[in-house]
Amino acid sequence: MSRRSNDKLLMRNLFGTCALAVVAALFQWITPVRADPRADAIERPSAEVMARALKSIWPNPKAGWEKRIEQDDTQSSCSRYRNDPPSEEAKAITERETARIVLPTDGKVLGDWKAGEKIASSGRGGQFSDPPGTENGGNCYACHQLAKSEVAYGTLGPSLTNYGKDRGYSLDAAKAAYAKIFDSEATFACSNMPRFGIHGFLSEQQIKDVVAFLFDKESPVNK
Ligand code: HEC
Repeated sequence: MSRRSNDKLLMRNLFGTCALAVVAALFQWITPVRADPRADAIERPSAEVMARALKSIWPNPKAGWEKRIEQDDTQSSCSRYRNDPPSEEAKAITERETARIVLPTDGKVLGDWKAGEKIASSGRGGQFSDPPGTENGGNCYACHQLAKSEVAYGTLGPSLTNYGKDRGYSLDAAKAAYAKIFDSEATFACSNMPRFGIHGFLSEQQIKDVVAFLFDKESPVNK
């Protein structure tokens, strides 16, 4: 075969390959990705089997810990709808959770931002192996950007940099943030954000401190 016809063949092959790639890309674009139909066919264990399995993992939970392995009404609803409840159910969740919010009795929602910064950075607490007296942390950085100087942060939640500054340091916005941290599901049914207040994971003072971290003019969140 001559050099020229070899080149021609190569060009034709190249053209053919490109055309195939374009057709494949177009096909993927017009056919929507469907969920694996097998997912619905998986047989799920009954609630009794699940409860037995959980109890066997923690046969002797510390006093009060049994409650931790029982879902409350909102958790079981979010599990039932795989975190995507129909709008009526979502409304029922946000209304129920709103009624659970307890704002500080002294009406103050701003604590000490330096203490709040430590709480936001700490992922401690909530484990069987915790030494007695362990203070729970909020682990806010796991999901949010806060102080710009901290480069290690997760992005599951929105960035909270300049949170107070962007809201004109308004007291109402600070109160709304307190309520959000106390019970995230009051505003967003089946939120990925933990409800820090309703089960007492963070204390009233700790939530005030975290709110100050978001709203104090001196806090690095607003610098
Ligand atoms: C496991 C991930 C996770 C953790 C931990 C978490 N959040 Fe969130 N947060 C989210 C997500 C997701 C949203 C957005 C959905 C929503 O509003 O519930 C959110 C929303 C918020 C909002 C509302 C933002 C807005 O739109 O105005 C605030 C304020 C907030 N988080 C503060 C905090 C603070 C403070 C902490 C630590 C005490 C914290 N979050 C811990 C995931 C998290």
